[in-house]
Amino acid sequence: MFEKTITVGLGVLAVSSIAWLVYHTHTQEEHVLITGGSVGEEYYGLEEKKPDEAIKKFDLLDPECAPEDMLNKIMYGYHIMLDTKKNAAEFSGNALNCNNCHFSGGNTLGGKNRGISLVGVSAAYPRYSKRDKKEISLVDRLENCFKRSMNGKAPPRDSLQMESLVAYLHWISSEVEDASMLPWLGLGPVPSAHTPDAANGKIIYKNNCMICHKENGEGSEEVPPLWGDQSFNDGAGMNTLPMLSSFVWQNMPYGEATLTPEEALDVAAYIISQPRPHFK
Ligand code: HEC
Ligand code: HEC
Repeated sequence: MFEKTITVGLGVLAVSSIAWLVYHTHTQEEHVLITGGSVGEEYYGLEEKKPDEAIKKFDLLDPECAPEDMLNKIMYGYHIMLDTKKNAAEFSGNALNCNNCHFSGGNTLGGKNRGISLVGVSAAYPRYSKRDKKEISLVDRLENCFKRSMNGKAPPRDSLQMESLVAYLHWISSEVEDASMLPWLGLGPVPSAHTPDAANGKIIYKNNCMICHKENGEGSEEVPPLWGDQSFNDGAGMNTLPMLSSFVWQNMPYGEATLTPEEALDVAAYIISQPRPHFK
């Protein structure tokens, strides 16, 4: 079930060749999806890019191959991504890990089944945030992740946790000079003008999601919760229809994202109608 993380454990050569194989098989359709323009709170202006070129040229960097003097910090940041509630316990307020949305610690090039990429974020910040209505730094953005997605509290700026996360994100972004040229950052919208129908979403949930995320969205030991007191709070990006529908459409059911854009919108509307913690 977690086979995507395996690639990260391999040497840099293996990672490069796997990345080449995986990304070489991108279909034209996927590129249209990724580059459909972002409705997320962060706008990356993706229309002008040539995603094929950027993806073919790019090799992912294995955290284990980081320079000796930074290795411990980078690996600690990576392990916070993978198991947040264990490795940043005092700042995490629910059962989620960063990795549940940012698969392989965000060290992917996004698209179908690869979660929300974080490769290049170091070059993308500081940037204007529509949610905060001002320019924010990467650290500001990480504070938001802890307070919203993790329903917890932000680690202090000079804490080992915050510094390690920043070091990790810098490392996986170190091949990126200009984030404005990346096709994979940010969740684009689903290509549909369909009006979401939460009642139909409930049926889709039963047929496609419940087997793993369980009857009350509570998940299990292996699968993260979608609503309830152990999930992201109502201030999280995932609690908005554009982000949740896009994430689900591109990534769920896990490993075989097969829903139509309309089904993704309906099931997202159903999930958003369910109870979850309130952002304070
Ligand atoms: C085969 C089991 C499985 C099925 C079926 C499945 N998921 Fe998931 N889902 C997962 C796993 C596992 C993760 C976390 C992935 C990771 O950590 O790498 C996840 C993560 C998520 C997340 C992000 C984390 C969170 O808890 O908020 C959302 C949202 C989500 N799934 C929604 C759905 C929806 C909607 C469906 C049905 C269309 C669905 N899933 C079907 C296993 C599944
Ligand atoms: C419930 C899902 C979820 C969880 C858990 C989560 N995030 Fe995110 N994250 C998102 C979404 C959604 C976005 C916004 C994507 C967009 O702008 O299109 C995002 C954006 C980000 C960004 C900015 C990316 C960009 O392109 O501007 C960073 C950095 C980030 N998350 C780091 C983290 C870290 C670190 C954690 C754990 C402490 C975490 N996230 C936990 C869903 C999640």
